[in-house]
Amino acid sequence: MPNSVSLNQDYPLIHASTALLDRAETLIPCATQTLAKGPAQNVRGVAPVYVQRGKGSHVWDVDGNEFIDYTMGVGPLSLGYCVDVVDNAIREQLNDGITFSLMHPLEVEVAELIREVVPNVESVRYSKTGCDVTTAAVRLARAFTGKNTVLCCGYHGWHDWYIGVTDRNRGIPEVVKDLTYTFNYNDIESVLNSIDDDTAAIILEPVVFDEPTNGFLHALRDVCDEKGILLIFDEMWTGFRLALGGAQEYFGVRADLVCFSKAVANGMPLSILCGRADVMALLEHDVFFFTTFGGEALSLAAAKATINFMRENDVVGRLAANGLRLRDGYNAIAEELGMTYTRAKGFPCRSIMVFDASAGNPLLMKSYVQQEMIKRGVLWGGFHNMSYAHDDADIDYTLSAYRQVLPLLHAAVESQSLETVLRGDSVAAVFRKTSNFNTKPKRNGVSA
Ligand SMILES: Cc1ncc(COP(=O)(O)O)c(C=O)c1O
Repeated sequence: MPNSVSLNQDYPLIHASTALLDRAETLIPCATQTLAKGPAQNVRGVAPVYVQRGKGSHVWDVDGNEFIDYTMGVGPLSLGYCVDVVDNAIREQLNDGITFSLMHPLEVEVAELIREVVPNVESVRYSKTGCDVTTAAVRLARAFTGKNTVLCCGYHGWHDWYIGVTDRNRGIPEVVKDLTYTFNYNDIESVLNSIDDDTAAIILEPVVFDEPTNGFLHALRDVCDEKGILLIFDEMWTGFRLALGGAQEYFGVRADLVCFSKAVANGMPLSILCGRADVMALLEHDVFFFTTFGGEALSLAAAKATINFMRENDVVGRLAANGLRLRDGYNAIAEELGMTYTRAKGFPCRSIMVFDASAGNPLLMKSYVQQEMIKRGVLWGGFHNMSYAHDDADIDYTLSAYRQVLPLLHAAVESQSLETVLRGDSVAAVFRKTSNFNTKPKRNGVSA
């Protein structure tokens, strides 16, 4: 019998997952198309690797085991799996067609919706992936300002201009790498130190897990105004989650360009670039940004249904309320047990569990918690990515699982037996880095 969402006696059987992974590893580099979903993020030998289907907040793996999912497609499932209102909109559009030879009315309708719900939107374009629109935004900023360098903070996708700053940057010319630098969140000095006469754009995730302090986002706005730099918000995670209008609405800060994807179409591939009309006007001719599937209608139908559902129901409020219960519930259990080395942090709609190296190897601690949560029917990657479909029963159950699992972690930490209790390979570090790398711009090899 496959495992269910319950205090199972045994770890799930994952034979079908393992057989698929064996086939993939001889054919698909890294086995995955999305690093955060790949085998390295899951305890090998224990965690399921392939999922078959989902409904609401639950998924069933290819061996038939059921889990509550807290990764939610790494962000897109803002409402949940197979939500009728979105799926019916997709089905209805499917009856009429997917991709056409002329433009489709949904391109206009969804643009108008975006203008209504997101602050400061005068102009809208679509594409398919998050990195499509961050890359277009950076190119626009360069064209608009006539400058070249980009300062960034967060993860912005696989394209040359960004990934060149990371340690997985083979194949990118040095001249390209030398045009992008990072700054540290909440550290306005690190921004000021990095700005020079050639700075075209400051692009950042408005928040990841830390709150802005000392008016950091407003300070960035002021610096950009003063120096003629464009401020770009990468709202893949904050958009349609923190507030319906994203971080601009939540924090009351205006960005020049804003990039969305993930949550906007409940799982369909759509990304959105929007913002100032005078900047976006460059897309009329001088800045080239076109792609075959940009106006694909199933995704636009899904976006229309998702945004309308979000307007009519308090999706943002529910993500926040349920996420708060989970985050604070985790912290209360850890505190009760005297586990000062772990806590859940972040905004309620998306929190992360962190483990302090003073108590042991953080990756081993994370792996062990994952292993034990998986045994109890919770697909756990170290985050609470909340969706509207998570309900009170999910939250209650998850907290009851933490009540069992955190004491196990504590015992393993105290007895220094993490390696022994782990039944598979440890998870790898999450790729994204947000501070203290590639911070100081070098101009001709000299620090600016
Ligand atoms: C903040 C942020 N920006 C950009 C991207 C890139 O989006 P995509 O993977 O759709 O290209 C991601 C992806 O996770 C992201 O989290």
